[in-house]
This record gives sequence, structure tokens and C-alpha cells, in this order.
Amino acid sequence: MTNKTVIRQVNEHVGEKVVIGSWLNNKRSSGKIQFLQLRDGTGYIQAVVVKSEVSEDTWNAAKSLTQESSLYVTGVIREEPRSQSGYEMTVTELDIIQLTENYPITPKEHGVDFLMDHRHLWLRSQKQRAIMVIRAEIIRAIQEFFDQHHFTLVDPPILTPTSAEGTTNLFHTKYFDEDAYLTQSGQLYMEAAAMALGKVYSFGPTFRAEKSKTRRHLIEFWMIEPEMAFTDHEESLVVQEQFVTHVVQSVLKNCRSELEAIGRDITKLENIQAPFPRITYDEAIDFLHTKGFDIPWGEDFGAPHETAIAEQYDKPVFITHYPAGIKAFYMKPDPNRPEVVLCADMIAPEGYGEIIGGSQRIDDPELMEARFKEHELSPETYQWYLDLRKYGSVPHSGFGLGLERTVAWICGLEHVRETIPFPRMLYRLYP
Ligand code: 4AD
Ligand code: MG
Repeated sequence: MTNKTVIRQVNEHVGEKVVIGSWLNNKRSSGKIQFLQLRDGTGYIQAVVVKSEVSEDTWNAAKSLTQESSLYVTGVIREEPRSQSGYEMTVTELDIIQLTENYPITPKEHGVDFLMDHRHLWLRSQKQRAIMVIRAEIIRAIQEFFDQHHFTLVDPPILTPTSAEGTTNLFHTKYFDEDAYLTQSGQLYMEAAAMALGKVYSFGPTFRAEKSKTRRHLIEFWMIEPEMAFTDHEESLVVQEQFVTHVVQSVLKNCRSELEAIGRDITKLENIQAPFPRITYDEAIDFLHTKGFDIPWGEDFGAPHETAIAEQYDKPVFITHYPAGIKAFYMKPDPNRPEVVLCADMIAPEGYGEIIGGSQRIDDPELMEARFKEHELSPETYQWYLDLRKYGSVPHSGFGLGLERTVAWICGLEHVRETIPFPRMLYRLYP
């Protein structure tokens, strides 16, 4: 039996005969030689079929191959400095699994809607594959950071009776005789977990019925939510900048070839080193006025405002101390200025928008009860959350990083639809 291997590991088989399960990406021929561009998901390799060196059956099999046909290819691995991967295969045999007819995604240009309808096939393209590899590396680096810093992974529920981030974009469902919602954020549960375990993080899907169709919003997205007991707002910012630095530097170290395959400007990512600049909401408003934006104090920023601010920096920037009125009910007011809260949004450079939202949490039970009233949140549903403030309340802070926006930024993608294998968007539930 010939050794079975994958393209990623051909370097371990130079001079040996191996068999690789693969798909035909593309093909060129010059009369007596056929060059097969093969992919197997782990990488790309050129396999060379020389007419005088193979059987007639093998030569004809190679000739019959169409784009995305599946095959086992057998041959000898050679070093080939001129090829992109550094290796080539000299083919001895071909075993076709299936000849593909009329593969819908051809090398010519296709429109976005067509590609989204064929997302299950589009994932096979070199760029989409590279994005998925980078996404996986980002997830790995995220978990590595929190594991190294002794945070415990905790899984909050997906079906919840409460809202964490306002009631306008909740997904409603029946839970037998009760009403339930798909989680918008695991935060409230992570606060309970922090009181049990100290430093915790969650990583899971979250859902928001966003009626706005933008290039930054998904209906289903993945969020990392760390929560830390005995930690104030300033200490949380330090964790955030170290965390994001670790993620970006890990991708640079482990995904060079994927970043190159999608044409990312790597120098922009090399700049990403803690500390990150910080400006207050007030300073941001003043700056926007100098740029001609007509935005009153107390209004939330939109994408154009965030982009104008981010353009001033070559690293992510924290915007801190937003007005309480435009932020979530649980954020702790600044003791020196209660109309603003101890919070920060981290805005990515190059116009990729908010990637982190975080804050110090209210730890005083009376103030929390007052907030329930102001926000018309039913005290019964949130009783357990109030308990966290009644039994050994401590200062605590946390934040949430949106995975897909982070992938969009690190990969330099125009739209979040390419950052997740099967995006759920306002008008898309298929495939
Ligand atoms: O700012 P958000 O709403 O904060 C929270 O949910 C907090 N409970 C987090 C916490 O403190 N534990 O969302 C956090 C991040 C945003 O900065 C953004 O990156 C991402 O989640 N996000 C979205 N990403 C894609 N599509 C959407 N519809 C998103 N909504 C938020
Ligand atoms: Mg936010």
C-alpha cells in the first residue's frame, strides 16, 4: 500500500511515492505534459502528468478531469523551489472518484448574491478557505490567552427568560408555556460565574434580530465574554489591549500564507501592540465637531463617526465614559460624574468599527433596583441577578468581543458575510 498523506505534509515525503485525496482546482496542458492544480483543503500542489511516463489510461484520466472532480492521485513528491508551495508531485497513477459536470462557480467573476446562494461551494475557494483558517486561528489564540491567564471557560445558556442588551432586537420563541429568547449576550450569567470562579470567559453564539442591513451586522454571531471579579474599568482595559495584541500577533505568526493569499496588508497588523490610545466620549464629540459632524452630546455614534475617530490612529482606540442614557442598564456610573458610565468601546483601525463593548458593572443593590425600574425590567425575572449584589457584592468588570468583526478586520474584509461559514443575515437563512 502506498502511503496516504495530505498536501500540508508533503514536506515529510520528499522522494517518496504517496497518495493524496484531492479535487481538481485547475488544469493546464502543453501537449505531452499536463499540469494539475490540486487542492485537498490542507493546501495546494501542482501534480505533473508526463505522457511518456504514465499508462495510456492514466493519461486519459488526467485529460478527462474537470474542475472540482474528486480523485486519488499517486505520485512521487519533489522539491520545486519555483512553485508556491515549494513542492510538486510527479504523477504515476490517477484514480477518479467522481467526474464533476458543470461546477457552478467558475474562475470568472460572480455576483455576491450568486456566491451567497452557493456558499456551500464558495467555501472551497482559496480566499474563503484562507478566511476560515484565520478564523480558527483567532479562536485558538483567544482561548489560549484566557487559559494562560487562568480564566475558567464557562458556558452560559442559549435560551433565556431575560434580555441583556435591550429589548428591541430579541428573538422570541415559546418555551413550553413560557416566553423565551435566544441569548443576545451571556454576560449576566457570566457575572454569576465570576462570583463563583473569579475570572471566567464564555465563547458561544449570540442572536440579535437586527433589522438594519449593514456590512457589520449579523443576526447570529459569536462572542467571547470575559468577566472578572475584583477588577475595575481601568484594569479591564489593560486586559483588553493585551488580549487583542495576542490575537493579532498569533495570526501574524501562524497564518502568514493565508494572510498573503487574501492580500492583507501585513504591516498594518504588525503595528498592533499594547497599549492602545484612549479618548473619552466628550473628547470624541469635540473632535467630531472639528470634523464638521453635527452630533449633539448624548447621541450614540454611528459607523461614519467611528470611522472618522479610528482614522486618527494606527491601532484600535478605546472610547470611554459614554452617557448613561445610550448604554446598557448594568453599567456603573462614574462616581465623579454620574451622567456617564465606566465603559469603553474598542474601535478597530481602518474603518472596521466596534469590536469590543465592555464596562464595569453596577455592584450596589439599590442602584441596580432603580435601574430595573428606569428600564422597565421585571424585578422577578432579574431577581437572581440582583442576588449577586446582595450576597458579597464586589467591583467587577467584563467585556464582549465580536468574533466576526474581528475576523473582518484582521482579514481586511469589506463585509462580515465572509467571516463565518454560513452567515445568518436579515434576508438570508439559506444555505
Ligand atoms: O457591545 P455589545 O452589544 O456588548 C455586549 O453584548 C456586552 N454584554 C458584552 C459584555 O460586556 N460581556 O456587543 C459586543 C460586541 C460588539 O462590540 C461587536 O463586536 C459584536 O459584539 N456585535 C456584533 N457582531 C456582529 N453582528 C452583530 N449584530 C453584533 N452586535 C454586536
Ligand atoms: Mg456595543
